Amino acid sequence: MSASRRLQIPQIDGQRLWESLSRLGEVGAYRDERTGLVGVNRLALTDADAQGRRIVKRWFEEAGLAVRVDRIGNVYGRRKGRRDLPPVMSGSHIDSVPTAGRFDGCLGVLGALECVRTLDERGVATDHPLEIAFFTDEEGCRFGTDMLGSAVAVGRIPIEQAYGLRDKQGLVMRDELARIGFLGAHPERLEPPRAYVECHIEQGPILRAADVDLGVVTGVQAISWQEVTIVGRSAHAGTTPMELRRDAGLAAARLNLRMHEMALSGRYGELRATMGGIDPAPGLVNIVPGRVRCTVDLRNPDDAQMAAAERDLAAYLGALAAEWGVQVEARQTAKTPRIRFSDEVQAVIARAIEAAGLSQQRIVSGAGHDAQELASLCPTAMIFVPGEHDGISHNPREYSTPEQCERGVNALLATLIELAA
Ligand code: GLV
Ligand code: MN
Ligand code: MN
Repeated sequence: MSASRRLQIPQIDGQRLWESLSRLGEVGAYRDERTGLVGVNRLALTDADAQGRRIVKRWFEEAGLAVRVDRIGNVYGRRKGRRDLPPVMSGSHIDSVPTAGRFDGCLGVLGALECVRTLDERGVATDHPLEIAFFTDEEGCRFGTDMLGSAVAVGRIPIEQAYGLRDKQGLVMRDELARIGFLGAHPERLEPPRAYVECHIEQGPILRAADVDLGVVTGVQAISWQEVTIVGRSAHAGTTPMELRRDAGLAAARLNLRMHEMALSGRYGELRATMGGIDPAPGLVNIVPGRVRCTVDLRNPDDAQMAAAERDLAAYLGALAAEWGVQVEARQTAKTPRIRFSDEVQAVIARAIEAAGLSQQRIVSGAGHDAQELASLCPTAMIFVPGEHDGISHNPREYSTPEQCERGVNALLATLIELAA
């Protein structure tokens, strides 16, 4: 791209972006007792999520966007184009895991908003409309299924199935959506946009370690979540001989170790395996646990190796039941295949980064994103911003610098302009 063309590309207001991230980061903020760090808890469809939603929706309105809320609570804001064409879309999520930082998802939503604000200030019109969005419950921590709002919007998950999901307290997703005032009336199925681009923090160590400015995301690895319930027999910890126990806690520990060994074995490629939730009942010091509910999170960039890992883990669950005298029940709560992003959109992003004189690297996303759902509807790709502290995320330590965020959103803006021109 020539220098004169580069000069014409508007630059965002990095300070304003940072202030928006900081303001939204105050919603659901808490101080971690142990570390003293300030984290964010905006678990989907809680009061804190509702407060964050109201603020960002108001910001959309103040930016002059035509705002709509759909039946699954996704919020869209549209900026008119010169022509009646499908919109170029950008966005992400503002719900969080309960122990979050202030960047995951929010950078994509507030970055897209900053792009709109910049275009308005500079009086830049685009042929295609621009549509920015935040999707409901990307994290999946509360109702058990990730990318929920975007998956419903593209038709992968039927809305009635999403509505019926329950949290640990038995509260129903649809009721909670209504309770917080975001059960919208607009049809949930999206018409295919011209393209979708999402800017997100990498949430891992790769870009920072390579000292690269930005990542062009080639796709997302496969994700498989299960909830496993192990039922044994609760009994007295002091009087019950070891050979008479049916210890559900021990079986869960065995399962966790097995997952770890599978991931390290090399037999399943780059498998990652995590038991993030372990909930023993009755959960008391002097009682052999009679029941454990635990979670299984498998990730793999290769669908065949993911299938092999799932098959072998299922066989192990059977063996576990036989060996330890427990009953084991597994329920799939989320599953998405390896996603490959559009070459066209990746090329536009790469040109935008190059034109800004920044370094870049292609990268596969380790985390799940709303973009992977949109990819089934239109040409899609993502921009990754490096993170400090080994890119730690889902942790209050999550941090990208103002400069890193600004570079990512400037690349987003240049990409949106080219796609919507
Ligand atoms: C989303 O944050 C995920 O679990 O990958
Ligand atoms: Mn995210
Ligand atoms: Mn996340």
